[in-house]
Amino acid sequence: MRVLIACEFSGVVRRAFRALGHDAWSCDLLPAEDGSEFHAQMDVMLLLEDKPDWDLMICHPPCTHLAVSGARWFKNKGPEMNSALFFVRFLLEAPIKHIALENPVSIISSKIRKPDQIIQPWMFGHGETKATCLWLKNLPNLVPTNIVEGREARVHRMPPGPNRWKERSRTFSGVAEAMATQWGGPA
Ligand SMILES: C[S@@+](CC[C@H](N)C(=O)[O-])C[C@H]1O[C@@H](n2cnc3c(N)ncnc32)[C@H](O)[C@@H]1O
Repeated sequence: MRVLIACEFSGVVRRAFRALGHDAWSCDLLPAEDGSEFHAQMDVMLLLEDKPDWDLMICHPPCTHLAVSGARWFKNKGPEMNSALFFVRFLLEAPIKHIALENPVSIISSKIRKPDQIIQPWMFGHGETKATCLWLKNLPNLVPTNIVEGREARVHRMPPGPNRWKERSRTFSGVAEAMATQWGGPA
């Protein structure tokens, strides 16, 4: 299967799919953190301009101007919100048969549509809370793989610093493995 992981610098989801034999690529404006050759460092909108022969795309667009946790700033950032929503719509409407888009609880729900599913890391082997919404096209809801005890919010323990956003936004490996196993199908 040809799989595009849009807006991924970490390679966590890409590696989960490649481990199962899929032809998976990540794409981000940033370089691949793991130095992988299976990474396109570019604007995913340009990448998708080429005839997309992808079977599945999993998207992690930035939530900075969309997350409800930043709601108190909304009234001052209309243009940023509109361009973030434009990007989300562009990804959801890409001519690819199977699409998943993830974001925290966000205004995507009120401005575009409600998510198909809300997952938590503790459903996939990580003892942490972080509500993550999934908007799905031609994909089944993810089935929890390993429900564990422990309901810590890791992000609150992270020290401030320039890389905090990266640690906060990195996809959990248990979620990535569930995506690859349940959405990958035969390689
Ligand atoms: C919330 S982070 C997602 C991180 C991801 N979960 C991971 O594990 O790497 C959003 C990412 O989108 C990237 N991004 C923003 N606009 C983009 C664009 N037009 N094309 C490609 N990547 C983009 C950012 O550089 C950032 O790394």
